[in-house]
Amino acid sequence: MPRNIILIGFMGCGKSTIGRSLQGKLGYPWIDTDEHIEQCVGMSVKEIFAKRGEQAFRELESNILLDMTERRIQHHIISTGGGIIGRQENRKMLGKLGFVVWLVASTQVIMERTARNRDRPLLQTDDPKTRIEALLQERRPLYEETAHISIETHGLDSNEVASGIIESARYFFNQADATQVLDRDESVS
Ligand code: S3P
Repeated sequence: MPRNIILIGFMGCGKSTIGRSLQGKLGYPWIDTDEHIEQCVGMSVKEIFAKRGEQAFRELESNILLDMTERRIQHHIISTGGGIIGRQENRKMLGKLGFVVWLVASTQVIMERTARNRDRPLLQTDDPKTRIEALLQERRPLYEETAHISIETHGLDSNEVASGIIESARYFFNQADATQVLDRDESVS
């Protein structure tokens, strides 16, 4: 199991803030899939949605996950766009890339955190609350299916959340190692 920590969760749940905090604590390189896509394509996420459509963006998300999987990256923090869990192939790749953490936030918190930002095409509607609720309903089971743990971040500071994630990741990787050793032993005997 590669030693990466992957953050998933809805828009505005704090993936970037926690990603930065984890990077500060661990010193690992931090990849944000949205930023990576923007750099590769030379357009903002908003422009990609407007000019090429959402499906083209989803294709780019799958490509970046495939690339990270094939390069077998290690010791990275990876934060992801909120919709990356939509495709089954992505959910599988995420689970194999490392320790997956779902940052949970309520509709209210998401509304507050995303209200002033015009860069999220899916929330540019007259009624963002209804859109958020519908997307959350659709995605909740997918986040749940993909994540190894979930953390409700509201009321906690990013340092606390990051420390908790690091502790859980250590435990998770130790367990994964132990399982691998057992599997190896069993296949030898
Ligand atoms: C999206 C979330 C965004 C970005 C794009 C689509 C989504 O990322 O990938 O606007 O479908 O939830 P953040 O979750 O970082 O805002």
